[in-house]
Amino acid sequence: MLSDRFGRSIDYLRVSVTDRCDLRCTYCMPKDFKDFEDPPDWLSFDEMERVVGAFARLGTRRVRLTGGEPLMRRHLPQLASRLSALPGLQDLSLSTNATQLARHAGALKAAGVSRINVSLDSLDRDCMARITGRDSLPQILAGLQAAKEVGFAPIKINMVAMRGVNDQEIDAMVEFCIEHEFVLRLIEVMPMGATGKDASYLGLDTVQRHLREKFGLVPQALELGGGPARYLATPDGRSSIGFITPLSQHFCATCNRVRLAVDGTLYLCLGQEEKFELRPLLRGGASDAELEQAIREAIELKPQQHDFGRQPEKIIRFMSQTGG
Ligand code: GTP
Ligand code: 5AD
Ligand code: SF4
Repeated sequence: MLSDRFGRSIDYLRVSVTDRCDLRCTYCMPKDFKDFEDPPDWLSFDEMERVVGAFARLGTRRVRLTGGEPLMRRHLPQLASRLSALPGLQDLSLSTNATQLARHAGALKAAGVSRINVSLDSLDRDCMARITGRDSLPQILAGLQAAKEVGFAPIKINMVAMRGVNDQEIDAMVEFCIEHEFVLRLIEVMPMGATGKDASYLGLDTVQRHLREKFGLVPQALELGGGPARYLATPDGRSSIGFITPLSQHFCATCNRVRLAVDGTLYLCLGQEEKFELRPLLRGGASDAELEQAIREAIELKPQQHDFGRQPEKIIRFMSQTGG
């Protein structure tokens, strides 16, 4: 098992399979962003499988495919099949914007993807277009429907809650998720580079108080997934709502994850710069043992916690690069 300098077990790897996206969510990537990784620098599926295999041998149990938008990477279900077959992995999940999910849901299910999280910030078509830079809502709803039909359950909805942007729609989203049996997670916007650090930041403590009162939410006993959300449940226990609060109440003490970017950079924390380049090893003939040793050394670099609050200007990469 991998363990860091602070005694945390690292058993969750997030793999960004592309830094491209068909949307331009305001908090994730600037509108005119063009500085994408060059295709020759993208890890191939063979290289990704090799890295994930090494992590699995070192005790990693959960892998989440992210991006950018992971379904922008061609033949993603093929990668998913290869990863889900790796010995030791128990949970292969996907975070997607769902614009292309209707087309791929069946293949992803067949490939062994066990769980899907979908970004959806609003049920109002115009508001969603303002946030994502495109008229995306109809496609996303079709993607959600398809994922449900092929049997993904529960599907989680990620809603980045932003003051003056979509906060007036939180109650409607709660009702929508209860009705459709989705697990809603409300997320505090994190400052990444030039994005996400404006007046739209909304701490979730007051939202949580309001929702507890309005929907009679009670503490949730079940653990739902491997991420940082803390959950409350409706009184009948049938629906859960998660709160992801990196700024108002961070969860770094129980952090269990690191991130592999598409160019083979291993980022040790979402909100810090520490990183380790694995591509030179992969392309330089390193053995499996050398790769595993490099991963162990990289984990030693993992910082105690993020620096979002204290130095919001510091992180200059965008969420699209590290996969959220
Ligand atoms: P589950 O396994 O279903 O719990 O997934 P998850 O919540 O870990 O993954 P998802 O991709 O759905 O991420 C939801 C939100 O949590 C996104 O806004 C991520 O940026 C944020 N998030 C996930 N992991 C971390 C983390 O380690 N640190 C911080 N600060 N935010 C994180
Ligand atoms: N702050 C918080 N969450 C973010 N995401 C992307 N950028 C940010 C940000 N700056 C979320 C997306 C997606 C998840 C993987 O990360 O909403 O659901
Ligand atoms: Fe882990 Fe860094 Fe996220 Fe904190 S901010 S939970 S240390 S990855």
